Amino acid sequence: MRERAGDAAEVEWLLDTAFAPGRTALSSYRLREGVEPVAELCLVARDEYDAVVGAIRHWPVRIGPEGAPALLLGPVAVHPTRQGEGLGAILIGEAMERAGDLGWTRVLLVGDEPYYGRFGFRRGPAEGVEFPPPTNPARILARELVPGAMAGVAGRVRRWTETERRDADG
Ligand SMILES: CC(C)(COP(=O)(O)OP(=O)(O)OC[C@H]1O[C@@H](n2cnc3c(N)ncnc32)[C@H](O)[C@@H]1OP(=O)(O)O)[C@@H](O)C(=O)NCCC(=O)NCCS
Repeated sequence: MRERAGDAAEVEWLLDTAFAPGRTALSSYRLREGVEPVAELCLVARDEYDAVVGAIRHWPVRIGPEGAPALLLGPVAVHPTRQGEGLGAILIGEAMERAGDLGWTRVLLVGDEPYYGRFGFRRGPAEGVEFPPPTNPARILARELVPGAMAGVAGRVRRWTETERRDADG
């Protein structure tokens, strides 16, 4: 289920198919530029022919003046012919479980609360969290993987530099 090195082109194709053109112009992509995704949290769903029909990736980010570490969920996409079968829910659920096991405590995303609410993502804990403009603040959602992890965490979300990643890895 983990994305393998050879899957990258297939995953990019899936994202291009599922999203409107120009997806990489979205402000959340500014937080991903030049930063490696969290490999353990890049997952794919395959069909019976081994083709990639769903994918989810996560990037590390920092929030606010303290640089609180957080995961940025997404992009997540399911092929249009396979949507509504629960694949998105499986990918998100599996990723959140793995994220908790890896020690991540908070997850952010930019998306629809009516969909992501079912996975515990809410506007409330993301109040005061700012994404690069132009991001609609109402679409900034957060989930605490550890209760209270968003308490007192607010401010601008910024990129996670490679130096910081090395520090975090010890
Ligand atoms: C969003 C997406 C990943 C969900 O994957 P999926 O496998 O279809 O999702 P699931 O089968 O787990 O869930 C389907 C349910 O979510 C609902 N849903 C999907 N997108 C939604 C949205 N934006 N807002 C509210 N509900 C949504 C469906 O109506 C369906 O509802 P139901 O369970 O009541 O029938 C997929 O639809 C997709 O790739 N969309 C295009 C790319 C995209 O928008 N990605 C997310 C960007 S924030």
